[in-house]
Amino acid sequence: MPNATATATAPVPGVPPATAGACAAFTLRTLSPALGAEVVGLDLSRPLEPATVAELRAAWLQHLVLRFRGQALTDPQLLAVSRHLGELDPPGPNPYGAPFNPAHPEINVISNLREGDRPLGNLGDGEAVWHQDMTYIDHPPMASMLYAIEVPPSGGDTYWANLHLALESMPAGLRRRIEGRSAVHDSTYNSAGIMRRGMKDVTDPREAPGARHPLIVVHPDTGRETLLLGRRRNGYILGLSLAESEALLDELWAHACQPQFAFRQEWKVGDVILWDNRSTLHRRDSFDAASRRRMHRTQIKGAALRPAA
Ligand SMILES: [Fe+2]
Repeated sequence: MPNATATATAPVPGVPPATAGACAAFTLRTLSPALGAEVVGLDLSRPLEPATVAELRAAWLQHLVLRFRGQALTDPQLLAVSRHLGELDPPGPNPYGAPFNPAHPEINVISNLREGDRPLGNLGDGEAVWHQDMTYIDHPPMASMLYAIEVPPSGGDTYWANLHLALESMPAGLRRRIEGRSAVHDSTYNSAGIMRRGMKDVTDPREAPGARHPLIVVHPDTGRETLLLGRRRNGYILGLSLAESEALLDELWAHACQPQFAFRQEWKVGDVILWDNRSTLHRRDSFDAASRRRMHRTQIKGAALRPAA
């Protein structure tokens, strides 16, 4: 195995090192050998200085996942801090046809709570499978931010996996089989397996609706190569027979989802996690349906993803 710590924390070309030094408004604490850092000493409810935003951005590009604990944010404060990274990307169509947060439709609600028959958020209480957010559009979001308002006493943990690391440690033979190839990113189902509004069931992944992206892309902000997988369901690698595509996708997913590439987040109320959606996968454990889990989420618009040379 490669030295995951060195790879995950190595300075990124073109990006100032995220050292959070003597003049920084915060310090950083590594969360796992593969990826993730905790930002200590920053209150996100207060306006951030441009220098602090620049340091946070550098830390985010270096560590891919940033955690801020003990936060207490109103929706406008969550929106304000999210906008420091760029223009917000509204949530994709949810299965119920109306925003969960009408006062702030840019905020997606991730929750199992219901009012009568009406869900108050997305994803319910079940497992959410490994995925990247909204890669079924041509310009997938660059970042997502998730703020924990209510969490169950156990379960509902979220995991992130480092796709730079997965690519860098990929067997050469496997990499050769995907170089220059692109895949279909199906838009039919969300990560909880619920069909999106207006979609039809897909019986042949070759006919799935959704964007086409290269399997190896250049990270738009850092120039680092990364694997881009989206989600497994209804994936299809263009130019292969369906059987070849299925076998190759199974190999890629088995490789990328190994525990040594991942960080596990056990949520506390007040946690905020900001992640890079271009170079990480995430998934969520199920939890007890009788417990309450409520999170507010924003995402930031991204750019087109270029193939690696
Ligand atoms: Fe997601």
